[in-house]
Amino acid sequence: MKETMRELTTSSTDPDATMETAVEEKDSYFSNYGHHGIHEEMLKDEVRMDSYELFITKNTEIFKDKVVLDIGCGTGILSLFAVKAGASHVFAIDQSPIIHKAVEISEREWG
Ligand SMILES: C[S@@+](CC[C@H](N)C(=O)[O-])C[C@H]1O[C@@H](n2cnc3c(N)ncnc32)[C@H](O)[C@@H]1O
Repeated sequence: MKETMRELTTSSTDPDATMETAVEEKDSYFSNYGHHGIHEEMLKDEVRMDSYELFITKNTEIFKDKVVLDIGCGTGILSLFAVKAGASHVFAIDQSPIIHKAVEISEREWG
C-alpha cells in the first residue's frame, strides 16, 4: 500500500514521467491494433458484424450520397458497408499500422 501510494505520488507530481507513461501507453495501444489477430477477432464476431452491417445497410437514408468519415477504420469494414449503403465518398483513417491492410483491401475492391 505504501509502495502504491509512493508510486502514485511520484507519477502525479512528475509531469515528465506522467507524459512518458501516457506516450508509452498510446504507442502500445496503437501497436496492438497493428496486429491482424485483434481485427480478425472483431471481424469473426458475427453478432458485432451483423449488427453493424444491418444498421448501415438498412438505413441507407443516413448514408446515401453522403460523405462519411470512418475514424478508427481498422481493416475498413465499416467503410465498406458505408459504400454499400450509397455513400458518395468515404474517408477512412486509423492511427495504427492496420491502415496499410485497409489500403490494400480498398485498392483490391475499388482499384
Ligand atoms: C475497436 S477497433 C475498430 C476497427 C473497425 N472500425 C472495425 O469495426 O472493425 C478501433 C480502431 O480505432 C483505431 N483508433 C483508436 N483511436 C484512434 C484515433 N484517435 N485516431 C485514429 N485511429 C484510432 C485503432 O487503431 C483501431 O484500429
